[in-house]
Amino acid sequence: MTALDTQPTQPKSYSLAHWQGGHKSLKEEYEYWIDDIDGTIPAELSGTLFRNGPGLLDVNGDRLHHPFDGDGMICAISITAGKAHFRNRYVKTAGYLAEQKAGKILYRGVFGTQKPGGWLANVFDLRFKNIANTNVMYWGKKLLALWEAGLPYRLNPATLETLGEDQLQGLLGKGASFSAHPRFDPGDGVRREPRMVNFGTATGLSTRLTVYEFDLDGNCLEQYSHNIPGLGFFHDFALTPNYAIFFQNPVVLNPVPFVLGLKSAGQSIQFKPDQPTTVWVIPRNGKDPVQQFETDACFVFHHANAFETTAGLTIDSICYDHFPTLGPNDDYRSVDFETFPISQLWRITVNFADRSVRRTQVSPRCCEFPSVNPQYVGKPYQYIFMGVAAPKTENSPLQALQKLDVTSDPADPSVQTWSAAPNGFIGEPVFVPKPNRSETEDAGWLLSLVYDGAEHRSELVILDAEDLTQGAIARLKLNHHIPYGLHGCFTPEVFLCE
Ligand code: CO
Repeated sequence: MTALDTQPTQPKSYSLAHWQGGHKSLKEEYEYWIDDIDGTIPAELSGTLFRNGPGLLDVNGDRLHHPFDGDGMICAISITAGKAHFRNRYVKTAGYLAEQKAGKILYRGVFGTQKPGGWLANVFDLRFKNIANTNVMYWGKKLLALWEAGLPYRLNPATLETLGEDQLQGLLGKGASFSAHPRFDPGDGVRREPRMVNFGTATGLSTRLTVYEFDLDGNCLEQYSHNIPGLGFFHDFALTPNYAIFFQNPVVLNPVPFVLGLKSAGQSIQFKPDQPTTVWVIPRNGKDPVQQFETDACFVFHHANAFETTAGLTIDSICYDHFPTLGPNDDYRSVDFETFPISQLWRITVNFADRSVRRTQVSPRCCEFPSVNPQYVGKPYQYIFMGVAAPKTENSPLQALQKLDVTSDPADPSVQTWSAAPNGFIGEPVFVPKPNRSETEDAGWLLSLVYDGAEHRSELVILDAEDLTQGAIARLKLNHHIPYGLHGCFTPEVFLCE
């Protein structure tokens, strides 16, 4: 026997077949009152949860190479007086309508989907389909489906009918991009009004990064631009009262295999582990100089929060050791999680005086989809709510929700965990503050769509954020599944059109 043979095999926290079920298309569009509810919806919880994510994982039976290439489908769950109504609609983008009409894949996907016919069918085709699948935001009475490489698509918030691409009152040009990760500055309740802040990029030999700041009515108050050397692959950013903070991952794009039709744009990105990750600190007053810092190589999609300190900045981010990508011949549905880079929560502290950056791991547990109380964005804070894997240190699908106290001892952080394993796979938790409890940071509910692989059905789970250990306070079971989603939002406005 070799040493390897004697290693005890840990049973997995999930079945691969169950996990794969969440990657099946949902082609139907529904609307109904949810009548299968375990527990009780809190009477004070009132508003609409909007979710976005890839709904179609195939076009007429031809599978997409990567779920991130799937057409955006919006779900709206309206909650009022202890009842809940469900509705889902596809974002009727130009690409979605064209492919549904043709009954086949007409576009290459950013993450690896190719048109049928091999490289000859894909060579020199550099068009992108705006799939509007990453986030959905409600601001200034507008509901917008977001995808970071294109314009937002506007939808009717009550019916989810697609109204078309939105250039935001002429702010964005026809080919402009508007990130899928807006940040919402809660203001200070006195002098500074709340704002929505977002960004777009234009990439050539360098990257032109433009930050936009909007008032409560959706009017752009300010915009400021900077040139970033090289490829600026920015999915998200962090926001404090005085700074917009961007992490430039150490990646380069090799355009040759992409142009030749051999690989997608996403697969042509190469991670450079010997190069630093650059932290760009952009002053929101548009006047002070941009500051640049470096830390060791890591890849960041999402930031949990950031705040200003006497020395500089503290940023809590989810870092991967390197860029997680799928090769042209890999099948995402049978991916071996253990060979994939693990995502973990890190704290990055930036010192403005001596220009040092410290990066320390907060927790070894595999995590993604961080969320905080929206009133604490950009401020010193205590709690992160996020999806975590069921095992404590291995890479594995997200099956549990965790509340982590970032002020507790980093050697043994204080956490509460609610797990949906073995059958459940969780989505991003959205924090909804409880009315009239703004003095308590964790006074809120967590809303998360959970896919049950055994029943091939999804549910909206509501947890009390003050105590996850008491379990779900309500489970709203849908009549069908929802494919694994990405991001969404909650508004206290109740949208119903019946
Ligand atoms: Co994201």
